[in-house]
Parts: sequence; structure tokens; C-alpha cells
Amino acid sequence: MKFSGLVSCLAVAGTATAASVPSQKTDSKCNLPTTKIANIEVVDTPLVRDAVKLIKQFIPLQPYLYNHLMRSWLFGAAAINNNATLKAMVDLELHAVGTMLHDLGWDMRPNSPWHSEDLPFEVDSALGAVAFVKEHNLGWSDNRLERMHDGITLQGMGSYLNGKNIDSNWIVQSVAFEFPGPRSPLIPNADYDSILAEFPNDTVFRGSNETFTWLALTKPAGTRGTFIDYFGTAYVPGYGPLSHVAFDLITGGVEAEIAQYPNSTFVSHI
Ligand SMILES: *[C@@H]1O[C@H](CO)[C@@H](O)[C@H](O)[C@H]1NC(C)=O
Ligand SMILES: *[C@@H]1O[C@H](CO)[C@@H](O)[C@H](O)[C@H]1NC(C)=O
Ligand SMILES: *[C@@H]1O[C@H](CO)[C@@H](O)[C@H](O)[C@H]1NC(C)=O
Ligand SMILES: *[C@@H]1O[C@H](CO)[C@@H](O)[C@H](O)[C@H]1NC(C)=O
Repeated sequence: MKFSGLVSCLAVAGTATAASVPSQKTDSKCNLPTTKIANIEVVDTPLVRDAVKLIKQFIPLQPYLYNHLMRSWLFGAAAINNNATLKAMVDLELHAVGTMLHDLGWDMRPNSPWHSEDLPFEVDSALGAVAFVKEHNLGWSDNRLERMHDGITLQGMGSYLNGKNIDSNWIVQSVAFEFPGPRSPLIPNADYDSILAEFPNDTVFRGSNETFTWLALTKPAGTRGTFIDYFGTAYVPGYGPLSHVAFDLITGGVEAEIAQYPNSTFVSHI
């Protein structure tokens, strides 16, 4: 019963054109099946189950990564469940997949499909998540895919999300619940406890440090100019000094500009 409700709902989302029906509304109106994980109510569609299955592949080599991804999803779901207005607005399936797959680029297995030579891990992760959804042929609109892509790419840049859609924002907000600091008032204490009991964070610092160092080691072209630079300069011999991409570019160009435009007037106001 629940399953057939899901199928007809996705069929509607799939046939709607971007212009006629806003896919977010269509999707959020769907009566999606749910289940409980760590006592948190979450959506339970075939796509979401496949995402769980996918990240379980990280358990042997990077158990901290699997736990981090599950906590990001569940912390977010707990906060969303705690606010009925919010829950009616967020695309819960997009949220589930976007949070669970937001760090595919951390995959340290040899031949990982999400380890490009030259892209930041956030972009590797977003491209991987979009490819994963597309493989399922569910008819997600370009807009829906892009909301997920943006949330994953901008995962560490919460302040840049102001004015963007709620789904991208809630991927980023859910990842932010993982940052060290006091518990958020948006998540009930009992939910924090049940999530951390099932998906412990006891090696998250060691694991992140190891992964970030590995990224700097294995793909410096994708880490220069990002926060991963700090790990490269600290722990990877031969990585080189901290890069200041915009600073070097601009300050390095001042002298040539003066030579080229000797008569232009520039007045400093600071
Ligand atoms: C619930 O979510 C809505 C939508 O984001 C927000 O406007 C409202 O302030 C939230 N309520 C509480 C109590 O946080
Ligand atoms: C890990 O969870 C504990 C509670 O079990 C919490 O005190 C701590 O801040 C969390 N650490 C991180 C890095 O989130
Ligand atoms: C971070 O990881 C690198 C690489 O494994 C290691 O050399 C370094 O000691 C770690 N940092 C800390 C603070 O443990
Ligand atoms: C700058 O101004 C001087 C004096 O008016 C003039 O001789 C010179 O050609 C100008 N140079 C440029 C690059 O415009």
C-alpha cells in the first residue's frame, strides 16, 4: 500500500515539466513511507535505502565516515521532525540523499569513483550524488538535482546559503550539526542521545584529520586554495606553502596595473 503510494507520487513528479509544477511542492506532498533509525522517523524509499546501502560500503575502511554521514542525516531529520512547518516545506527524500552522500569524496578506497584529480571533495561528492540519483531513473527535475548539488557543494559555507532554497540550506544545516560545539536547541536531547548511541562520534576527529591529509596527499590540484591546504602544509611533505589564491593574484597585479595605466587616478578610502 505504502509502496504503491510512493510510485504514483514519483510518477507525477517525473512527468511534471519544470514550468508547470514546481517539483518541490509535488515531492513534499507525497505520502512517503517512513521508518525509524536510532529512534528518529525518516523517509524510507527505495532510493533512500540504496543510499544507506551505498555508504555502508565505507564501514570497513572508514567507519567514522559512515557514522558521520548517518548522523548528519539523522540530526537533520530530528530537527525537521521537531518543527511541523519546516517538515512540510523540506523535500525529505532530497534531504536524506543529500546528507547521506555529502562526503562521497572522502572515499579512500582505491579506484573510488568519486576521487577526481582536480576537484574539491565537495564537488566530487555533489557530482557523485547527482549521478547516483540519475541512475535510479526517478525523473528528478534539473532543479531538484541542482538543489541537492548546491547543498553538497556548499556544505562548509553556511553563510553563503542566505537567500537560497530551503533544501540546499537544510543539507548544509544538517552537516553543521556535526561541527564541534554545544548541542543545538533545534534537536531534542533524547534524539541526540539515541543518534550518538547508535552512530558514535568517537573517532570523528582522527578520521577527518586522516581523510583531509589523504586528500592533500593524493590530489593537491583539488585541495590548493581550500581549507584542506592546512592539512597539506602541516602533514604532507613537499606540499608547499599555504596558497593565497585571490590575495596573490590581486596584490601581484597591482604593479603591472600602475605601469599600464600610469595616468589613472586611484584614491584610497581606508
Ligand atoms: C520552524 O520552521 C519555520 C520554517 O523554517 C521557521 O520559520 C520557524 O521559525 C521554525 N520554528 C521554530 C520554533 O524554530
Ligand atoms: C561527540 O558526541 C559527544 C556526546 O556523545 C559530544 O559531547 C561531542 O561534542 C561530540 N563531538 C563532536 C566532534 O561532535
Ligand atoms: C593527522 O593525520 C596525519 C596523517 O596521518 C598525522 O601525521 C597527524 O599526526 C595527525 N594529526 C593529529 C593531531 O593527530
Ligand atoms: C599620461 O599622461 C601624459 C601627460 O599628459 C602623457 O604624455 C602620456 O601619454 C599619458 N600616458 C598614457 C599611457 O596615457
